[in-house]
Amino acid sequence: MGSNLPLFPEAASTIAPDVDHLALFLLAVAAFFSVLIFATIFYFAIRYRRRSERELPHEQHGGMTLEILWSVIPFGITMVMFTWGASLYFKESRPPDNALPIYVVGKQWMWKIEHIQGQREINELHIPVGRPVRLTMTSEDVIHSFFVPAFRTKSDVVPGKYSTEWFTATKPGKYHLFCAEYCGNRHSGMIGWIYAMEPQDYENWLNSNPPPSTMAESGSKLFNGMGCPACHKPDGSGRCPSLVGLFGSTVHLADGRSIVADEGYIRESIVQPQAKIVAGYGSLMPTYQGQVTEEDLVQLVEYIKWLGDKSEGKKPFPGTQGEPLAIPDLRGK
Ligand code: CUA
Repeated sequence: MGSNLPLFPEAASTIAPDVDHLALFLLAVAAFFSVLIFATIFYFAIRYRRRSERELPHEQHGGMTLEILWSVIPFGITMVMFTWGASLYFKESRPPDNALPIYVVGKQWMWKIEHIQGQREINELHIPVGRPVRLTMTSEDVIHSFFVPAFRTKSDVVPGKYSTEWFTATKPGKYHLFCAEYCGNRHSGMIGWIYAMEPQDYENWLNSNPPPSTMAESGSKLFNGMGCPACHKPDGSGRCPSLVGLFGSTVHLADGRSIVADEGYIRESIVQPQAKIVAGYGSLMPTYQGQVTEEDLVQLVEYIKWLGDKSEGKKPFPGTQGEPLAIPDLRGK
């Protein structure tokens, strides 16, 4: 709908028409009442103008009907805005389970992107059309904001945590990517392009940029290199919890809380291990804050996600098409 109006940027995601309809509704309500109020002011100014020096206005006492009307009508309109806006917000903030995960690390002043198959990009993001894409994003320094006007999505990218953003592109094309949070003197240059491609073209693009290793493989190398397996034994006999099967499971903490192990929990447990101690374990893990970069962390997260897959004994690393593992298998050590 809005795509025909020059007021609106091109609409190229499944959610874009919904956002445009809501924006148009808000605009229409605001325009209607602005015109109504200004017209009434002018009408009353003329209708009730003072006609002679001695004229005194009649005394007015309020009217209950009027009071009720101008309370109930705005209340109804704002409740429509609230429920419509909230339902769209929930839709936009809940990625579907089958979404394609892609990782984004922002820093002054560029976007670094890594696909789970291991391809890396800077200020460019290649995605397939017709498939939900879920971005897991963080920042190395200050707050940035990942904004794709054509997809009508924007999410702040905050240091020290993961934020997510998802969209399904509806038509192939090249779309602007902006940083939408003032982040320093070259903020305006922190821009890039999203390339939405037909699924086959996307496959071809992935295959024409073969990476040295998938994210999970890179994460596995880091995991071994940092000596993590010494404590995190796969069979749970170590001094720290086993990470096999962890991702997506419910973790019971020493303070009595239960949480679901998601990307944010794994990141936090590496840089701030004391924040959430697993019930039955001590607080002996040192912090890795400052020793691992955000790009290392997303690879470790992908590796631990891979370990979390229940069919893990058979499943190859993503992208290796069933070839034998290129890294030492930790299970059974
Ligand atoms: Cu990054 Cu503005």
